Amino acid sequence: MEPAIKYRLIKTEKHTGARLGELITPHGTFPTPMFMPVGTQASVKSLAPEELDAMGAGVILSNTYHLWLRPGEQIVKEAGGLHQFMNWKKGILTDSGGFQVFSLAKNRDITEEGVHFKNHLNGSKMFLSPEKAIQIENDLGPDIMMSLDECPPFFESYDYVSKSVARTSRWAERGLKAHQHPDYQGLFGIVQGAGFKDLREQSAKDLVSLDFPGYSIGGLSVGESKAEMNHVLDFTTPLLPENKPRYLMGVGSADALIDGAIRGVDMFDCVLPTRIARNGTCMTSHGRLVVKNAAYAHDFGPLDDNCDCYTCRNFSRAYIRHLIKADETFGLRLTSYHNLYFLLHLMKQVRQAIQDDNLLEFRQDFFEMYGFNQK
Ligand code: GUN
Ligand code: ZN
Repeated sequence: MEPAIKYRLIKTEKHTGARLGELITPHGTFPTPMFMPVGTQASVKSLAPEELDAMGAGVILSNTYHLWLRPGEQIVKEAGGLHQFMNWKKGILTDSGGFQVFSLAKNRDITEEGVHFKNHLNGSKMFLSPEKAIQIENDLGPDIMMSLDECPPFFESYDYVSKSVARTSRWAERGLKAHQHPDYQGLFGIVQGAGFKDLREQSAKDLVSLDFPGYSIGGLSVGESKAEMNHVLDFTTPLLPENKPRYLMGVGSADALIDGAIRGVDMFDCVLPTRIARNGTCMTSHGRLVVKNAAYAHDFGPLDDNCDCYTCRNFSRAYIRHLIKADETFGLRLTSYHNLYFLLHLMKQVRQAIQDDNLLEFRQDFFEMYGFNQK
């Protein structure tokens, strides 16, 4: 059987570990490194699929946890799966629910069997096991599914993380056994281990022996510094097979995307661009811009003078500031569109720099203009 998800390595950048490649899915082939917009509840907040398509999005992300609680995976299955339900014709990836249970649910209790918790919507008792997560993801029908994992806090004790990693490996194996559609849905294992090198090694070794079609790197961007995250990536990506995609979960600041790509990461997702857009913060080539600020009341220039997105081609900072201050929803649509376009365009530039073997120079120039003073 051909695996549902494949990765084609086109080239590795000359001076870094960055990879130019293609993610091959049942709903299209997409260039990597790539950024995946997040549509937690089967919708990238405020944007239509046509808009996401027009800005060049390839794979979008959704959440098992949210769709399980509402509307329920059976309704999505009845619609013909997530692609049909939300009218998105390109790739879809779902997170397993583990992370969301840990961040949203109340009274959670982790056992070998799975996680008991209280539903954050109505307080009812729920239980999520590795098999249940897979059943829900099989019913939702994304191209890429995640195994149920535990994402321990970055500064948790060695002893705890060691036990947690071993359990996440057992959960990954149980998930793989429960998976009903390996021919058209690819299941990824998630490497954990916090900041401990030997635990990341153990986790990667356990998962690689199970031969997943792709590997996620979890447990990062959870409060550690950028330097710590880069350090973990430095020793983690080399543990993963060259011929499979690597996905760094929940990371979406411009600097972290560049630094992750340099370390051989192929896929990223984050709510950051759309979340900050909704309170009027924009990502620009000159750094973050809080367009709500009074300073922009008379500024009739675009959000970013280096951006050619729909928002920047057609609307001014002053107009967008007015919309957001007046609670007009069009304002947050315009900032959401721009922020996603900004990151998708950034990844395009990163791919070009890998092609041209000048990614470190690109990083230097980008960081300088963006206002980062890191090495
Ligand atoms: N999203 C961000 N980080 C994580 C993680 O460690 N695990 C899962 N399942 N999702 C994530
Ligand atoms: Zn723009």
